[in-house]
Amino acid sequence: MSSESINVGLVGYGYWGPNLLRNYMELQGARVSWVCDARPQQIERALSRCPSARGTGDYARMLADDELDAVLVATPISTHYPLARAALEAGKHVFVEKPMTASAAESRELCELAADGGLTLMVGHTFVFSPPVRKVKEIIDSGELGEVYFVTTSRVNLGLHQKDVSVVWDLAPHDLSILYYWLGEPATTVSVLGRDCVGSNHPDVAFINLRFPSGIIAEVQISWLSPVKLRRTMVVGSRKMLVYDDTENVEKVKIFDHGVDFRDPQDFGEFQLSYRTGDIVSPKIENVEPLYVEASHFVESVRTGGRPITDGEAGLQVVASLEAAEHSLHHGACEVPIDVGEPWLSSAFD
Ligand SMILES: NC(=O)c1ccc[n+]([C@@H]2O[C@H](COP(=O)([O-])OP(=O)(O)OC[C@H]3O[C@@H](n4cnc5c(N)ncnc54)[C@H](O)[C@@H]3O)[C@@H](O)[C@H]2O)c1
Repeated sequence: MSSESINVGLVGYGYWGPNLLRNYMELQGARVSWVCDARPQQIERALSRCPSARGTGDYARMLADDELDAVLVATPISTHYPLARAALEAGKHVFVEKPMTASAAESRELCELAADGGLTLMVGHTFVFSPPVRKVKEIIDSGELGEVYFVTTSRVNLGLHQKDVSVVWDLAPHDLSILYYWLGEPATTVSVLGRDCVGSNHPDVAFINLRFPSGIIAEVQISWLSPVKLRRTMVVGSRKMLVYDDTENVEKVKIFDHGVDFRDPQDFGEFQLSYRTGDIVSPKIENVEPLYVEASHFVESVRTGGRPITDGEAGLQVVASLEAAEHSLHHGACEVPIDVGEPWLSSAFD
């Protein structure tokens, strides 16, 4: 490490890059020493907010700085792989926005490069760092819900149609990363029904069905076409059920002591179910910006050499799922196995 603080360089200062810049500028353990963007006016904007950084349109020049420890990639998806690869090859730690790359093969290569170079590779699965998502993880892990049966989730609103990708690549990384974090396992198969409603050549609505090794099933609804904004997830367990609604200002998470119990038949032909509707509890949730927690975690991982929660393997699991989902979407919603590839890859959450 070149100094007490790590020196980070940001590449990509469009819509999302400014959020990364703001959070890394607030961190104690990091110093933003470079901003790189292909558009000169964006560099100017970035430097007006962070005058101590150097600006460039030449990425190779930024990477040539020996004092630079890490690179943050916040450019469009198709550019993630070449930019992250070049940074790893230059010996820099890398944080790359979601989804990690445009294909599983590219993600695998980045994982291998990072492992070979002893470098940190982390992906921006921001929701994994959000307090309500972490609270739900805590509740599931505590066993309070019992055995998780299934999860349903809706992420829909009148959203910006992306020029280069379907709604699956744009929105599903959030839900997949949340589900894999909560359940501690990636899905094994996916099937997707979707359609391009407005004729933009990219599906703008999709219904994604997932199967998990433990038997859990999940349904993820995503769309850029909806009269209302929904960010609602239900987790149904054998003991209790839970609703996480990210559009709520308070009480984002509610635990319902509701359920249905099957009673062993006493007599031949008897079939009895007992329905339970008990208390509804909303746990206290801390109020911190997920991006700040994410940025702190990256800096901490770089400094200690520890494995980030959203490491390259977590990125690969999501990208492999997106790839399989896209295949299903274009092949009649068939069920497609999710293949992360190399056996050396263990679960990102073990
Ligand atoms: N974590 C989240 O919640 C979240 C939210 C929004 C976007 N994102 C991700 O952030 C990334 C960027 O999205 P965006 O909406 O800011 O895109 P954008 O198009 O608004 O901005 C991208 C910027 O990168 C620059 N750029 C493109 N190629 C470059 C290159 N080769 N070298 C240098 N600069 C280059 C462009 O000039 C532009 O300023 C995407 O991967 C997106 O998925 C993440």
